[in-house]
Amino acid sequence: MELDRISRLQQSFGILGESDQIREIVETIDQVAGTNITVLLSGESGTGKEIIANAIHKHSTRKHQPFIKVNCGAIPPGILESELFGHIKGSFTGAIEDRKGYFEAANNGTIFLDEIGEMPLETQVRLLRVLELGEFLPVGGSDARHVDVRVIAATNKDLTVEVDKEKFRKDLYYRIKTITIVMPPLRKRAEDIPKMIDKFALDFANRNNIIFKGFSPTAMNVLKEYGWPGNTRELKNFIESMIVLQKGEVITSAMVEKRLFGERPEAPFTPNLPMKIGKSVDQAERELILQQLFMMRREIHEIHDVTVGAMPPMNYQSPAVQLPGNISTLPPMKRQEKVAEEGEVVLDDDTIIHPDKIGHISMEEVERDLIERTLKKFNYKKRQTANALKISERTLYRKIIEYKLKDGNV
Ligand SMILES: Nc1ncnc2c1ncn2[C@@H]1O[C@H](COP(=O)(O)OP(=O)(O)OP(=O)(O)O)[C@@H](O)[C@H]1O
Ligand SMILES: [Mg+2]
Repeated sequence: MELDRISRLQQSFGILGESDQIREIVETIDQVAGTNITVLLSGESGTGKEIIANAIHKHSTRKHQPFIKVNCGAIPPGILESELFGHIKGSFTGAIEDRKGYFEAANNGTIFLDEIGEMPLETQVRLLRVLELGEFLPVGGSDARHVDVRVIAATNKDLTVEVDKEKFRKDLYYRIKTITIVMPPLRKRAEDIPKMIDKFALDFANRNNIIFKGFSPTAMNVLKEYGWPGNTRELKNFIESMIVLQKGEVITSAMVEKRLFGERPEAPFTPNLPMKIGKSVDQAERELILQQLFMMRREIHEIHDVTVGAMPPMNYQSPAVQLPGNISTLPPMKRQEKVAEEGEVVLDDDTIIHPDKIGHISMEEVERDLIERTLKKFNYKKRQTANALKISERTLYRKIIEYKLKDGNV
């Protein structure tokens, strides 16, 4: 059948979905609607069995005749038989007058027996008779009545299992199963979901005068991937509830997930467990090593400052704040360094202070000596001395006063 015709039929029946499964179902409706054949609709709850039953009736020559729906699961078993086939006055307590049943009410039209798997066995006998002979006996009556009724039955049970359990008559099962339309669950035709969402959302928003800005693409994905155990009924209700609850914003995946799965409780705080820092193990390790290297370099520079004063000023930035992306971007060290076993930093090549003095000399003494000798070397020219020491002239003046040094003016 051409796609155009299928789409037109879908539109007139209000059946959404462009999946192959839905299109095939619509084709079957088109083929069987004009006949009087009994149709069995099977499928999970909410897959659209009722919408299909409606479509079959509306697409048949009986469309102007009654369409009677009977939910066999909702009517108490003792009453179902008289509801379907009527009863004769006095046939049971409370039968104060003759009453026509649904089959007579549906004459020339269609009867939709929903949840047929719930029908009691004795009622099934009467149903089989109607299907085979087009006649039935009302409860308490002995005169057969004739009707022309098309039967559509639906079930969300597996009737073969019910037959095995002897809860459903085998002969009736074979009589009704000739044309069976199996409604696929929504999760097996997820491609239908986005258009269904759009349609349900727009219809509901328009009906209720609600401004609706749509779902974000990621929200759509979440909805598409969800299993929808309640199928289209659940999807429709969910979309409508989201539209009521949204506050004029685009509906995001977070909003959808919160409503679908509820709030997930935060994991309880366990102080002994490692804290999540949002970094990979490699990255965290690398940063730790770099941090240690920076600290070592800073210490070396400090030693240099008070000894040779020959190192270029180090533009030190706390590694906690800013780390170079790559270790090779570090400025080259002027001297080779190595870490002694006790963890103390030593300089490999010729040392400025004699090894024997180490342990007996303070930073102040070294600094004082260094400034005094540098001053002397540059003939007490402050600018040249400060440049050589890589300190400011102001600092040099301060140090001269602090250490009571000769500044050439005295
Ligand atoms: N293909 C579809 N297009 C549009 N609406 C659909 C479709 N399928 C189902 N629906 C809607 O989903 C809801 C449930 O559908 P329906 O009542 O037909 O399901 P069901 O199979 O009879 O479920 P149950 O077994 O619980 O009776 C209805 O509101 C119906 O309009
Ligand atoms: Mg139904």
